[in-house]
Amino acid sequence: MTETAASIDARTAPVAAYQIIEKMTKEEVAAWRVADLPGRPSAEERNLDIGFPCGWFPLMLSSELAIGEVKPLRYFGQDLAIWRGEDGEVRMIEAYCAHLGAHLGHGGKVHGNLLECPFHAWRYDGNEGVVKEIPYSKVIPPQVKRKCKDTWPMAEKNRIIWTWYHSQGEAPQYEVADLPETTDPEWSDFDECTWTIYGSIQNMAENGVDFPHFTYIHGVASPPEAELEWGEWERKGIVRAKMGTPKGVVDGKITSISNGPGQNWVRFEGICETLLIACITPVDYDRLEVRYFYTQPKSQIEGPMAGLARAIIKDVNKQLDQDKVVWDRMKFQPNPIICMGDGPIPKFREFYARYYAGEDGAPGRTKATAAQ
Ligand code: FES
Ligand SMILES: [Fe+2]
Repeated sequence: MTETAASIDARTAPVAAYQIIEKMTKEEVAAWRVADLPGRPSAEERNLDIGFPCGWFPLMLSSELAIGEVKPLRYFGQDLAIWRGEDGEVRMIEAYCAHLGAHLGHGGKVHGNLLECPFHAWRYDGNEGVVKEIPYSKVIPPQVKRKCKDTWPMAEKNRIIWTWYHSQGEAPQYEVADLPETTDPEWSDFDECTWTIYGSIQNMAENGVDFPHFTYIHGVASPPEAELEWGEWERKGIVRAKMGTPKGVVDGKITSISNGPGQNWVRFEGICETLLIACITPVDYDRLEVRYFYTQPKSQIEGPMAGLARAIIKDVNKQLDQDKVVWDRMKFQPNPIICMGDGPIPKFREFYARYYAGEDGAPGRTKATAAQ
């Protein structure tokens, strides 16, 4: 089929949509990746109102929050304010001041390790979730002297700031995994690519075990044969392939690991070493912030492998562009009809259900697990 014939073939909408994206300039694609998607159906209509899965989630790079800096954030359907105290520690609380409701992330100031409201200077302690000081008043009202704000467990690892989200407020059940490449001076600074995805993090994760879509969305000749491992909180998928290189055939290996729903990384070995940290954090039920951070050995980026190193990053970003066309508009099917040749989607959903905490703290949510 000629290129023109393919691009007007309305039978394969997502692929046809990608053919349009492919023709855009670099700047146009970057804008498309984070553009608004107005007029989409509500999260409820798309069955995306199933709660947020619990776990560690990335918020921003450590370098994006200096000592004494305050930033507004929105994640997990909440407005939040994050700050770094003079002691270097990062803290985060819900954004609206208990006094008259100012947004602490817009104009708030760091005072020692406390966050000061821009409106009347009430000062919040991010570890205890209380108001510690009111400079103009002799008395702190009892309602805010005791815990009035949820506190968020925070961690800094792999040059990234992480928070623990749990819908029932439970303490962290495991730790953020260490990725040694991120602090190795022989490995490059992060190469970043950013998207807004109008879908759920569960649907994105399911993509890895959805084998036939690799043919229809990503255009690979035969779906990859992945060895899957299912741990307590961790999932692993390993794809091995012989790859032709200028130096001959090498054993290539791609390992994708999820440590809970929010810490995801991929290691490419053999042809060109690459670590991708896929930072995906829910903003709302139907909106995700996605930042891919890549690091590669400096010797590869600067040497004769430079072209190949770039090509790997470009190809992974392209795959996400292709999936985005579907994810942005898909509806979650709680009772999907599965046919022979599909990947282990029921097994994936059964596993993923452990990340949701029900009303009583028990794992499992109705819509997310109805398929089982
Ligand atoms: S609204 Fe925050 S101190 Fe008054
Ligand atoms: Fe995909």
